[in-house]
Amino acid sequence: MTVGFANLPLAPNLYRSADTHASDRRGFRHWNSMSEMNAAGAGHQNASLGDEIVARINELAAISETPEHLARIFLTKEHRAAADLILSWMREAGLRAHLDAIGNVCGRYEGERPGLPCLMLGSHYDTVRDAGKWDGPLGLITAISCVADLHKRGRRLPFAIEVIGFADEEGVRFASTLLGSRAVAGTFVESALGVRDEAGISMREALTKFGLDPDHIGAAARARSELLAYIELHIEQGPVLEAQNLPIGVVTAIAGATRLAASLNGMAGHAGTVPMALRRDALAGAAECIVAIEEFCKTDEGGLVGTVGYIHAMPGATNVIPGQVSFTIDIRAPTDGHRKLAVADIVRQIEAIARRRKLSLQADVTHENRTVPCAPWLRSQVAEAIAGEGFRVFELPSGAGHDGMAMIDIADVGMVFVRCRGGISHHPDEHVEVADADAGARVLLRLIENFRPRGAAQQ
Ligand code: GLV
Ligand code: MN
Ligand code: MN
Repeated sequence: MTVGFANLPLAPNLYRSADTHASDRRGFRHWNSMSEMNAAGAGHQNASLGDEIVARINELAAISETPEHLARIFLTKEHRAAADLILSWMREAGLRAHLDAIGNVCGRYEGERPGLPCLMLGSHYDTVRDAGKWDGPLGLITAISCVADLHKRGRRLPFAIEVIGFADEEGVRFASTLLGSRAVAGTFVESALGVRDEAGISMREALTKFGLDPDHIGAAARARSELLAYIELHIEQGPVLEAQNLPIGVVTAIAGATRLAASLNGMAGHAGTVPMALRRDALAGAAECIVAIEEFCKTDEGGLVGTVGYIHAMPGATNVIPGQVSFTIDIRAPTDGHRKLAVADIVRQIEAIARRRKLSLQADVTHENRTVPCAPWLRSQVAEAIAGEGFRVFELPSGAGHDGMAMIDIADVGMVFVRCRGGISHHPDEHVEVADADAGARVLLRLIENFRPRGAAQQ
């Protein structure tokens, strides 16, 4: 059975129609009437961009470790095959394309003259395990289709367009995230090359096998002066747009996240001989920690979410008391302050559980991504493009992480969300309707064609 989130209550203060606060923002005034429009949009008949995008989404989704469960993990052979396919689409669309030193697929469409700064568009082409096919590829493929459309019409703009397919956003293989966009932002940490995957292969070895030179990752970095902005279109991955009956939304900010790796050490022993009162069962301790984390987040009223998504018990036999358990913790909240306080409280709680159970606890922060606000001037232009396509303008934050979290170091960031059917993501049932993919493409195309660099006069 498929269970959606559409009927869950939402924290209403985080979501708003632009018409409720339009008057304080340049260019928002005329959108006051947009909420009067058909909430589902103007219902354009020509879905050709959407059809092309969905066909390519399906073609890319066929490149997977296993046919039954989509998994395209950083620097695997499937990842390489996907990169080659994306390169071919970029070239067909009129982009000059290459792979950079971390495996990002990079394409450039020159403006009215060569060498102009670019508007950078993109998303990632790696996936989680047993993934949906839209998370990442939707934004990348849509951007390529938009450039193809410009190219077909011979349209050149007063700036270049670059499209980038980030090699690693999900961080599945090397317990990290945003490796592709960090390389572009110049914040890739060299020591990451020594990190090993579960099979013991280092990132350095994996890059070499992929056909890349790990010593040249620095060459993937771009300068702030080369970019006018970074704009990403992405599936919403949640239920908010669906609840609003809207195909497209303006993203206000990308929520920060803290990830921890925790391990509990107790004493392994015989499942039949050690009395319950004398046990130091690390797995039972982890179970208590997991429920405590869930309870803590459930009772929070500020939008805090916490997930234990991975657990491993050792030695892992039916008749042995688990002596050692490792698990991950992912904590997110709408503000950095709230998240940091919550992480500190959660760590205190699991420390207390460990003490009471005579277990030793090690909890290390493996990632700390700050909340990234989308630039107001880009939010305005995204909103304008949405309104221009006849949709009601609606703003919402992103609970999911995105490459903009790294790109913020070299560019202002804007994001466009496309409705996610059933609000389901990181799951094979993740779905976008053709009409919504088409709406996303039309909004992105309009945004590109009307794009004005920061500070440029309104047209
Ligand atoms: C990426 O999808 C994340 O939000 O973890
Ligand atoms: Mn994802
Ligand atoms: Mn994503």
